[in-house]
Amino acid sequence: MPHSATSKQAGTATLSYDGKSASLPVLTGSLGPACVDVRKLQGELGVFTFDPSYGATASCESAITYIDGDAGILLYRGYPIEQLAEKSTFLEVAYLLLFGNLPNKAELGVFTNGVTRHTMLHEQIRRFWDGFRRDAHPMAMLCSVVGAMSAFYPDSIDTQDPRQREISAYRMIAKIPTITAWAHKYNAGQPFVYPRNDLNYSENFLHMFHAVPAEPYEQNPILTRAMDRILILHADHEQNASTSTVRLAGSTGANPFACIAAGIASLWGPAHGGANEAVLKMLAEIGHKDNIPAFIEQVKDKNSHVKLMGFGHRVYKNFDPRAKIMQQTCYEVLGALGIKDEPMLDLAMELERIALEDEYFVSRKLYPNVDFYSGIILKAMGFPTTMFTPIFALARTVGWISQWMEMIEDPQQRIGRPRQIYTGAAARDYTPIDQRG
Ligand code: SDX
Repeated sequence: MPHSATSKQAGTATLSYDGKSASLPVLTGSLGPACVDVRKLQGELGVFTFDPSYGATASCESAITYIDGDAGILLYRGYPIEQLAEKSTFLEVAYLLLFGNLPNKAELGVFTNGVTRHTMLHEQIRRFWDGFRRDAHPMAMLCSVVGAMSAFYPDSIDTQDPRQREISAYRMIAKIPTITAWAHKYNAGQPFVYPRNDLNYSENFLHMFHAVPAEPYEQNPILTRAMDRILILHADHEQNASTSTVRLAGSTGANPFACIAAGIASLWGPAHGGANEAVLKMLAEIGHKDNIPAFIEQVKDKNSHVKLMGFGHRVYKNFDPRAKIMQQTCYEVLGALGIKDEPMLDLAMELERIALEDEYFVSRKLYPNVDFYSGIILKAMGFPTTMFTPIFALARTVGWISQWMEMIEDPQQRIGRPRQIYTGAAARDYTPIDQRG
């Protein structure tokens, strides 16, 4: 697997403080803005940098994914997301993200075979579901069972062994769809459906999710293709919150299953991957187009703490290119299912139209993100709302693993350890309890 590309020094920036001056290298990668390398700042000026929520900080060098947030561009290993979504398959994109280049036929064959041969779970893992409440959120089950994989596959947790890293990657990419589908089956009270290795990745997931033993499950090629495309669109997104969580957990030497479980936990929040579920809840609460203006007023009122879910992004100050492809896929899926009128889609489109004309959203450059339309498609494909974020996690597993591997192979890698501005009490002596006021 490739090492991250090495940045080059393009110049220096000078920072002065308290009568001293530091000359700091300015680094550039292959695309994107230059970054001031502040690693020597503390030694030279005795100060740290302050950047809560990391809005102005590059945490690593990475050669995997590139985003130009102003132009609305997303590249995986240099390939535009639009081309991959149209022409590629999820496993081919997984190979690309993991290994750096599109595979030839033989390479894709070996990779596909490797993933396919790991789709079954250790049978003992099945017993975890006996312990969960029947109404447990599938993200809770996914997070726990993926974390527990380290107890079942101890032969692939040595992070310093490249072969073990690779096996853990195959295991997670192959088994997380099985775990995700079984979480749903448990909620639904239906029998678990075992993987079928004669099906492709998306077909197998749809089969395990929707099939029941009582009747054959018929694949619809348009829906299978839509599933694959949804997975491609969610596969990676550079240093987002969950990926950064995986990298931080991984920087301690924690095993890969534990790191991906940490990523799943981070993704669950409504500001991140949980937004796709939140969008549908929001649309259901709005209920009718007539209620949109009142809802928008609520969003604009800072005291309400209501957000327009599926809108806004830390990096995109333009359309999220994935949202455009999602909207297109939405039409294809509804067409394939013969759904002429989907009130949720009409409501979402009207909400988008009104928001994009409103000064509040225009001035803050808030546009639809990947989560705005994905829930509507997934709902039409028969997925319950609670499954939307697990499906995001299933797809993002490939990105998390690629980033985790890149980090481990990066010679600059050290444990992640941010600093702070301490604002608490100065040193003081302990007071016995009977002397406290
Ligand atoms: C994902 O990072 C990634 O790459 C993530 C992701 C990936 O693939 O990994 O793309 C996936 O997480 C998509 C985002 C899903 N989340 C949502 O849809 C939830 C709604 N969106 C927001 O909460 C918000 O936009 C974030 C969390 C996505 C981004 O937050 P930022 O970068 O911290 O932006 P901000 O809160 O500083 O917003 C700037 C301004 C603020 O107003 P002011 O204080 O300047 O007056 O815009 C406002 C915010 O209040 N704002 C919103 C809003 N999003 C931002 N106001 C109303 N509704 C919104 N959705």
